[in-house]
Amino acid sequence: MILAIESSCDDSSISITHIETKKLIYHKKISQELEHSKYGGVVPELASRLHAIALPAILEECKPWFDQLKAIAVTNEPGLAVTLIEGVTMAKALSIALDIPVLPINHLKGHIYSLFIEKEVQFPLTVLLVSGGHTQLIEVQSHEVMETVATTMDDSYGESFDKVAKMMGLGYPGGPLIEKLAHSGDSSRFAFTVPLWQSPLIAFSYSGLKNQVRLAVEANDMADYPDIAAVFQKIATEHLIQKLKKYFKSTKPKCFAIVGGASANIYLRNEIEALLFPHGASLLLAPLEYCSDNAAMIGRAAVEEYVRGHGTNYDAITVNPRCKL
Ligand code: KG4
Ligand code: ZN
Repeated sequence: MILAIESSCDDSSISITHIETKKLIYHKKISQELEHSKYGGVVPELASRLHAIALPAILEECKPWFDQLKAIAVTNEPGLAVTLIEGVTMAKALSIALDIPVLPINHLKGHIYSLFIEKEVQFPLTVLLVSGGHTQLIEVQSHEVMETVATTMDDSYGESFDKVAKMMGLGYPGGPLIEKLAHSGDSSRFAFTVPLWQSPLIAFSYSGLKNQVRLAVEANDMADYPDIAAVFQKIATEHLIQKLKKYFKSTKPKCFAIVGGASANIYLRNEIEALLFPHGASLLLAPLEYCSDNAAMIGRAAVEEYVRGHGTNYDAITVNPRCKL
């Protein structure tokens, strides 16, 4: 079995995955959303302190499986430096104590494997990763060959929901709050411009849309927030759809997936489904509980690393906060 640790942002999570069967033996996540909510976003120093409390408490429950562990997996990139270090330090300590190797796991790769928890992998795949830290279109050929073909020039899709929620004083994380508010709103009330709609670039940008929302929030009052939320969600998603349409002109989708915390958004899921329908392409989604950060996806990615013999000595592991896929 592999014990996996995730602490790249504001979720403390540990999983145990069976190497041969891929079965998830144990999984627990303690989210810090409530603690960060009053600040309207994640406070790294606070997140780090909360991981230092939550991770050992979860680990205590994993002791019965310690003698069956073959490796310790840990998210070591990308993420917040001060929170990654919490998980990595724990992984190193366990590696020394149990005399087993460490498997460093890229968090973005982990999100891709959220699709295959307790399942066999299904590649090739075109993946849209929409999270708080990233908005990327990734061509996945195999475990080894994953190429980012489009990325954001500024904010990410999920982050823009967080910032809009903060402007409206709603709390954190903004994604589910804005999605809920948008239900009762009129999505035709404001005429926001779709980012980069005239640009031939296949890239994403959310800072301009964020500014349009800010002006609307300032010029209106609370009763108008549902309408602003509905228009924002529609335009933020339309931006993704426009760029995907452009991309599909040269690369026809066969099997498409959406991963990351914001892949829980039902409006986005429906829009992508409608986009894929004429292409006859299938849509893969992770179960809702594994869309946001969790150690089960890290453990699943780690199984692939382990079978390829990628385990390494604890002193070779580094924390790379800004690393890409
Ligand atoms: O993958 P994740 O847990 O953390 C990162 O790796 O960043 O994603 C968290 C992000 C937050 O920005 C959150 O607001 C967004 O995912 N999110 C959503 C929804 N649920 C979570 N965004 C839009 N709609 C949602 N329903
Ligand atoms: Zn994530």
